[in-house]
Amino acid sequence: MSGTHDFVVVANRLPVDIQIDVDGERTWTRSPGGLVTALAPIMRAKGGAWVGWSGAADTAIEPFDADDMWLAPVPLSAKEIATYYEGFSNATLWPLYHDVIVDPEYHRVWWNAYLEVNRRFAEAAAVNAAEHATVWVHDYQLQLVPQMLRRLRPDVRIGFFNHIPFPPVELFGQLPWRKQVIEGLLGADLVGFQRTGDAANFLRAVRRFTSYGTRGQVITIGKHWTRPERHVRAATFPISIDSAQLDELARTEAVEKRAAAIRSELGDPDVLLLGVDRLDYTKGIRHRIKAFGELVAEKKLTVPAAALVQVASPSREQVEQYKTLRHEVELMVGNLNGEHGSLGRSAIYYMHHSYPQDEMAALYRAADVLLVTALRDGMNLVAKEYVAARSDLGGVLVLSEFAGAADEMSQALLVNPHDIEGMKSVIMRAATMDPREGRRRMRALRKRVLEHDVAHWANSFLSVLEAVPQRTSHV
Ligand code: G6P
Repeated sequence: MSGTHDFVVVANRLPVDIQIDVDGERTWTRSPGGLVTALAPIMRAKGGAWVGWSGAADTAIEPFDADDMWLAPVPLSAKEIATYYEGFSNATLWPLYHDVIVDPEYHRVWWNAYLEVNRRFAEAAAVNAAEHATVWVHDYQLQLVPQMLRRLRPDVRIGFFNHIPFPPVELFGQLPWRKQVIEGLLGADLVGFQRTGDAANFLRAVRRFTSYGTRGQVITIGKHWTRPERHVRAATFPISIDSAQLDELARTEAVEKRAAAIRSELGDPDVLLLGVDRLDYTKGIRHRIKAFGELVAEKKLTVPAAALVQVASPSREQVEQYKTLRHEVELMVGNLNGEHGSLGRSAIYYMHHSYPQDEMAALYRAADVLLVTALRDGMNLVAKEYVAARSDLGGVLVLSEFAGAADEMSQALLVNPHDIEGMKSVIMRAATMDPREGRRRMRALRKRVLEHDVAHWANSFLSVLEAVPQRTSHV
C-alpha cells in the first residue's frame, strides 16, 4: 500500500468547503483556516495530499485536485458523526482535555466508533503517502492514527500536533482508554504541543501509563526482538496566524472606513469592547458577560457610552452542552439589554454567526478592548489576530492566563476569568489605559506575532520532524 505524495496532511476536516448542487456537480471554496494558509506553500512545493472529512454525512466524494493540493475525503456516516465526532471527540475528549469544564461522557460505543474512524483515516493516509513520505496528523480527533499508520507504513515519518491542551495526568487518568490513546500518539516520531505545560503533562502520562523510559523530551519505545529501538520526541510549537496577510488587510482604506462606520453605527461609544469566539463553553463568554454586566449595573461603565460586541460563531450545535450554553448566553444577553438598553442602543450586541475576514478586520480595528477570557484554550488565535490588525497601535488586549497565547503575549493585560472582581478591574484598566502605555504594549505584542507567524510554526515543526533519520521499508 503506497501512493505518490511526499507530504500528507491528515486532519478531521478538509481545508475546503464543498458544495454539491442538485445535479451532483461539485464546487468548493477554500476554508479560511490558518492551517491551510500555512501549509499551502509546502503542499504546492511537495505535491501534498490532504486527508480529511468534508463536513457532510453519508457522502462519498472521490479524491480531487484543488489549489495544487490533492484532497482525499474520508466519508463519515450520520451515525459516526454522532458517535465519533459529536460523541467521543467533542463530548468526551474535548471537555476532558479542557479541564473538565463540563463533565466528559465515557461511552464504549463512542470509543468503538473513534477506533473505526481513526483506522479509516490511517488507511487513507497510507494509500496516499509515497515511500518515505512525511505525514503530519492533526488534533485530538485523530490520536490513534500515528500508531495505526506506523503499522501500515513503517517507512514514513509521522508527526502529530495537538491543537488543544493536553490535560494533567490526574484528569487524563479518567479516560478508560488512556493507555490506548498514549500508545496511539507514540506511533509518531514527533508529538507537538502548544505550551510547555502540555508537553510536560503528556510526558508524565507516558511515564504513568506505559513502561517506556523518558529522558528530557525523548521517549524510548522499548526494544523488541523484531523491531529496533525507536525514539519519540515531545516538544512545544505554539501555533500562530498569517499575521502579515491580516496586517495588510487591516491597513486597507476599505477596512479603515468600515471600522469607522461600525463605531458610528453603534453611536460612537467612548469604549467599545469586543469578544470573538466559537460559541464554546471553554471560551468564558458567560464570565465575560457577567463582568461587563456588573460594571454596567454599578455604573462604572454606562450605556451607550460603553458597548460590548460579542461575535459567537455557531459550533457543534448538535452537542447537548453547546445547546445549553447557547441558551444561557442568550438569556444573559437578553437580561442585560432588557435592563440597560434603550430603543436603538444596546449594552451588548450579540451575533450568532460568523463574518468574512474583512469584516472581522474592521471589528478588530474598531474595538478599544478585545476580551479573550477563555477558561481553557490551546492557543487562542483571536488574540493574535487582534494584534496583527492593530498597525495603528491602538487597542488593548485583555487575555486569559488559561489561553496558550498567554505564554507568548505577556504584554497583554492577563486575567483569571474565574475571578469576576479581578476581571472587572482589568477591564476598567484596559478601558481607561493611557494611550502611551497602550501603544508600548501593542508594539511589543505585534513584534512577537509578526515574527512568529504560522509559517514559522509549520517550518519549525517540519524541520524537527524531517531531521528524523529515514527508515527502510522493512522491519
Ligand atoms: C478547534 C479544534 C479544531 C476544530 C475547530 C473547529 O480549533 O482544535 O480541531 O476543527 O476547533 O471545530 P469543529 O468541530 O467545527 O471542527
